[in-house]
Amino acid sequence: MTFTDFDVDLFLRDYWQKKPMLIRNPWQAWANPVEPDELAGLACEEGVESRLIGRADGRWSVEHGPLAEDRFARMGAAPWTLLVQAVDMHVPGVAALIAPFRFVPNWRIDDVMVSYATDGGGVGAHYDQYDVFLIQGLGRRRWRLGQHCDADTPLLVQEDLRLLAQFDVTDEWVLEPGDILYVPPGVAHDGIAVGDDCMTYSVGFRAPSRSELVEQFCAHMVTDMVEDDRYADPDLRAQANPGEIDAAALARLQAMVMDAVGDPAAFARWFGTYNSERKYPELDFRPDEQIAAEDVRELVADGVALCRNPASRFAFVAQGGDAVTLFVDGQAHDCDGDAALLARQLCAADVLTLDPVLMEKEAAVSLIVTLYNEGSVSFDPEDGPQD
Ligand code: SIN
Ligand code: CO
Repeated sequence: MTFTDFDVDLFLRDYWQKKPMLIRNPWQAWANPVEPDELAGLACEEGVESRLIGRADGRWSVEHGPLAEDRFARMGAAPWTLLVQAVDMHVPGVAALIAPFRFVPNWRIDDVMVSYATDGGGVGAHYDQYDVFLIQGLGRRRWRLGQHCDADTPLLVQEDLRLLAQFDVTDEWVLEPGDILYVPPGVAHDGIAVGDDCMTYSVGFRAPSRSELVEQFCAHMVTDMVEDDRYADPDLRAQANPGEIDAAALARLQAMVMDAVGDPAAFARWFGTYNSERKYPELDFRPDEQIAAEDVRELVADGVALCRNPASRFAFVAQGGDAVTLFVDGQAHDCDGDAALLARQLCAADVLTLDPVLMEKEAAVSLIVTLYNEGSVSFDPEDGPQD
């Protein structure tokens, strides 16, 4: 899927993380990538995160999936919305929606959530902590945008919905199929279905919080620390008041902390590994049958393309020379030469037709074998999780 007319540089300069933007159908030919029935089917599956949100008599209700197969037949006349998380992992056509937004690096991408609503359905006025592109897939939705919110904004917490106590509407648009609304973090928004069969695709991003980074990085670093690496003061002098923790001691103590977490290489390796962990690590995508180097060479010689698993997260950090560390699904792979070239190619494209000449290089083939056997790449775009 590609855009015919969208100025990425202008968008990044004036809108990204700054202000909302309405993009009227920029697609070459918009086609809704998942049918309502297929979405409902996903919400009934184990291992798929979904919520069914209703509103009756002014009260919101939230039901978490997996839903019973007959659940939708039992819905009343009141408006409702079904939200299914990470549909890109299950439907290749939904994964393809991410392609035009790849001007944002892989590591910032979270998932594509898909919603289905009946006439009047919505999830209430709220704000999200992340950037989102809301693509109207089917039917129409009225979006109203409002004020900038933060942690101090008063909320009405109902079920697990965090609705805004006050919504000051600043803009209002009705989105038609193919239209896109970009909403930066913190901007109040409310989308209400205009007519039945309203489907919206949220291409969502992620941005780690400082508290998460500090907590997780420090937890990682302490695993290698030893008990006898301690504060030492062989230069201690008698002090006037024994009650004071003096500036020199504080500086030395703080340096112990800062030195332990200040190594850029250790941070890069940890972050790449941490950030590339799968969203749902319990889903097992490993193939029934492991692949061998010879099989890889044959498939590539036959022109079969290598596909990244849409549930896998690929990113790399450049090292000296042409070397890179490739991060895939929580694992770090140090690559140089041909393997590094392959690693860069894999991070740049979700489907890759490999050069058979590259397959003469042991390191490159061995990287593919490892990634294939972990379920991170396949030679078949339809490969899904194992039951
Ligand atoms: C929806 O698709 O109904 C809600 C998406 C959002 O507001 O983030
Ligand atoms: Co939202």
